[in-house]
Amino acid sequence: MEAVSFNSLLVALNKPARRASRKHDRCSLSKKSITCCQGGGNEIKSTVLKERSVSVCANQSSALIDTGSLVASPNGKSQEEICVKDLVPYAGHSHSLVEMDDGIGIVRFFRGKRFFITGATGFLAKVLVEKILRTIPDVGKIFLLMKAKDKEAAMARLSSEIIYSELFKSLRQTRGKSYEAFMMSKLIPVVGDVSESNLGLGDELVDFIANEVDIIVNSAANTKFDERYDIAINVNTKGPYHLMTFAKRCSQLKVFLQVSTAYVNGQRQGKIMEKPFCMGDSIVRESYSAEPPTSLPQLDVESEIHLALESKKALEDHAVPQKMKELGLNRAKKFGWQDTYVFTKAMGEMLIDDMRGEVPVVIIRPSVIESTTKEPFPGWMEGNRMMDPIILNYGKGQLTGFLVDPNGVIDVVPADMVVNATLAAIARHGMAGKSGINIYQIASSIVNPLVFQDLARLVYQHYNTSPCFDSKGRPIPVPSMKLFTSMDEFSAYLRGDASQRSGLRAITSDTKLSRKLEMLCRRSVEQAKKLANIYEPYTFYRGRFDNSNTERLMARMSDEEKRRFGFDVGSIDWKDYIINIHIPGLRWHVMKERRTFS
Ligand SMILES: NC(=O)c1ccc[n+]([C@@H]2O[C@H](COP(=O)([O-])OP(=O)(O)OC[C@H]3O[C@@H](n4cnc5c(N)ncnc54)[C@H](OP(=O)(O)O)[C@@H]3O)[C@@H](O)[C@H]2O)c1
Repeated sequence: MEAVSFNSLLVALNKPARRASRKHDRCSLSKKSITCCQGGGNEIKSTVLKERSVSVCANQSSALIDTGSLVASPNGKSQEEICVKDLVPYAGHSHSLVEMDDGIGIVRFFRGKRFFITGATGFLAKVLVEKILRTIPDVGKIFLLMKAKDKEAAMARLSSEIIYSELFKSLRQTRGKSYEAFMMSKLIPVVGDVSESNLGLGDELVDFIANEVDIIVNSAANTKFDERYDIAINVNTKGPYHLMTFAKRCSQLKVFLQVSTAYVNGQRQGKIMEKPFCMGDSIVRESYSAEPPTSLPQLDVESEIHLALESKKALEDHAVPQKMKELGLNRAKKFGWQDTYVFTKAMGEMLIDDMRGEVPVVIIRPSVIESTTKEPFPGWMEGNRMMDPIILNYGKGQLTGFLVDPNGVIDVVPADMVVNATLAAIARHGMAGKSGINIYQIASSIVNPLVFQDLARLVYQHYNTSPCFDSKGRPIPVPSMKLFTSMDEFSAYLRGDASQRSGLRAITSDTKLSRKLEMLCRRSVEQAKKLANIYEPYTFYRGRFDNSNTERLMARMSDEEKRRFGFDVGSIDWKDYIINIHIPGLRWHVMKERRTFS
């Protein structure tokens, strides 16, 4: 999930007298042709095979809670009442010894299997691709659908964002000189777009890939909480529709996996079970134990798609961005979801369920995905999302408090565990080959809850011992993080803090400088409040994600599989993860800090 950035404003406040601006960053198939590639040094050479030469290329009910607990308090309990005894980790189901020894057969299943993966230039699917290639080298070809203007651009993306990404360094070391040839023999970029019908591919190309593919993984998404409604619907709702339409043309398909999010559960509360959505489910309606009043709106996914499209057409160009953002948030809230992102993802799940027919479907619902805990190395992270902007700005002394329920739980899972669970689920259901829909919530809030005030303490501990440095090389001291439960108190605190840091407080006369500083302070406070508003549904979230299916999946694995593909979120030591793995990973891989820190 993406965060709203207000770094530049905060930086500006710390450098009051100067104009401050700082940016923080971060063989292909095209519509008409099929390209295979051979490596050589860092340059990737490709040969293009037209569509006609494809044969040459071939050689190579509501998800709730325990009964009736959907009303304001889950299982009849408030957040505070969900106590430890209610949240005992699942102990596993009984399997015969023979089954346990065999495990799922993950590596065996994937041998020679061909994937079609979307979203591989993004954070999560990249970790998935790396894990597959490193641990199952005899996997078949992996088609990677990516947006690009042409096949050369796709090839360039494959090279810079995947093959030469730091994430792949251990595979690069292991393979040595044959690394690029190995990668080229496996990865086939496909120029396309999930929001377009036929995924933006020509019919002949679709037919070719459809005959090849065993497994589809749809990880492409627009993860901005407050994205324009039309854009979010196109990727998160129509995307799964187009992928499922494609899946139905795949003659060899063993399983279709959709990467969703645990937060598709919207404003549900309490213990939230791993249940699929049916077409038209709405969270608002679920909160009525009896028949909901007729005045409550009925969710109709097709009408929502139509509404997004037509509303955009009716707007003047200049009004589109703002109005379409507002429309998304309004529609989401109307039906019981907190924002456009999770609402459009939930509608994507509904379409998949509605269309799947005989296709075996797996939906994984991770909570907040953060840096890898072990593989390929601890602390890999890409992008600055969810809790990370707050952590990073705190470390720089620019945001020393936040609006959050101190006793609430932030549900975090490391990316490598999500990937391992994904592979285990694909192998299990791909092997079974049965039609059906299987939901896996990959989440920690029940088995190993991380409480906000503990997180704040751990973040303080990290920066207290490993501070950031200012432009003059001096360590930046951090106070313990202040947590506020009301927006009024938070705003007052922000105003005081901003004027102190900018030096405004020390200025007594009404000068040009003081007016400029005042304006900067006001803008910085507004940005921080905006961030707090967008995050509020998450920092005061009242649900905990049941993960019994995920635990049962793990119980099916052999000891060897657990060692190689484990995802025991209950075993995470949050103190070690936050202090020694996640924040150092963020500082190194995302912020590109190059000073040594522990
Ligand atoms: N990150 C989290 O905390 C989190 C938590 C729970 C669930 N998830 C889910 O996990 C999945 C992966 O998330 P992520 O964090 O890896 O997201 P990400 O880093 O933002 O990556 C999104 C990927 O989707 C691709 N994409 C976007 N629009 C597309 C389109 N129209 N056609 C084709 N590809 C498109 C992007 O391509 P470009 O590079 O071209 O933009 C990128 O590769 C998503 O489904 C998300 O909902 C994420």
